[in-house]
Amino acid sequence: MSEFDKTMDIIFGRWKSQILYTGAKIGIFDYLTTNPKEIDQISQDLNLDKTMTYRILRSLASLGFLKEDMNGHKFSITTLGELLKKDHPQTLQGVLLLEEGPEHYQIWKHLPRMIKDGQQNAFLSEYGANIFEYAAKNSEYSKVFNDAMSSYSAMHTTMVLEALNDYDFSSVKHICEIGGGQGHLSSYLHSKYNHLTGTILELEPIVNNQDSSWPHKMGLQERCKYIKGNMFEQVPSSDLYMMKMILHDWNDDECIRILSNIHKSAHDRSRVFIIEHIVPDATTPHFSKLFDIHMMCATTGRERTIEEYQSILTQSGWKHVQTHYPKSKMIGVIEGNIA
Ligand SMILES: C[S@@+](CC[C@H](N)C(=O)[O-])C[C@H]1O[C@@H](n2cnc3c(N)ncnc32)[C@H](O)[C@@H]1O
Repeated sequence: MSEFDKTMDIIFGRWKSQILYTGAKIGIFDYLTTNPKEIDQISQDLNLDKTMTYRILRSLASLGFLKEDMNGHKFSITTLGELLKKDHPQTLQGVLLLEEGPEHYQIWKHLPRMIKDGQQNAFLSEYGANIFEYAAKNSEYSKVFNDAMSSYSAMHTTMVLEALNDYDFSSVKHICEIGGGQGHLSSYLHSKYNHLTGTILELEPIVNNQDSSWPHKMGLQERCKYIKGNMFEQVPSSDLYMMKMILHDWNDDECIRILSNIHKSAHDRSRVFIIEHIVPDATTPHFSKLFDIHMMCATTGRERTIEEYQSILTQSGWKHVQTHYPKSKMIGVIEGNIA
């Protein structure tokens, strides 16, 4: 791609993601199969305006997510489009519906102002509450948020299992996942390592909605149990604490409070796994450097380098042992033990 084309592609990136978002909202990816369907039938079945539907489907076909037949009468789904089906094992539908949805769309407008005044408060200025307080009061947003976390986890869990493939879990009997959301990662770890039992510490709305959780769906409720709690207050005793996409939601002082609190409940041989995007050196382009800007808009947190994680671990009584990476290095598992 030429420099001009690359720049154009980025400028119009939001158009593309909003077209995809609309496709997911109207249900086209869950509806279509590889068997072509008439536009009349599609608009009737999904209760949509026929002319407008044709135009949005044509744009989705142009992006490669659908296939349009030669005369524009029929559409079918492509392998790209399959990734946006709700039930695809690697589904990205949840990620799309959250990150391009109205709440997260709005917060980006605060970015230039925040860069000027240094106040990292986009979500708070827009909604008068932080992201988790807002989710607690808005069941619709909460569902979109939690489904998106499972959708992210569909890719993260595979990477974590790969990164920890040679890890010796024999001395770990109990895992506590802090802020484990719908429990995708915990459930897959429990199903791979049969000797494990675990606890997922979560906020009330998630604990009250366990029917949509992965331990429930995978029949693991007896070995992997939810408890209601607040990681800033108290966590249970455990051999291994796991936090995936938790510390990046919080600033350094907040992270030190969380990690110090865990340290209080830990025993001599407890370990901690911090699973995050890790910012690589200055010359390496990486998704973490973009996700960091999303964190700037959505939370008080940030993406960090390995040295920054080492520093917050040390300041909360932990010692960095090593970092486990999958081949892609998209995320890393930072291991700490009691200093
Ligand atoms: C970014 S999500 C990550 C969820 C999950 N770990 C994952 O990677 O899919 C952050 C999670 O932290 C939980 N959380 C936020 N504040 C918390 C608190 N004070 N105590 C316990 N959990 C909390 C939220 O409910 C949410 O599920």
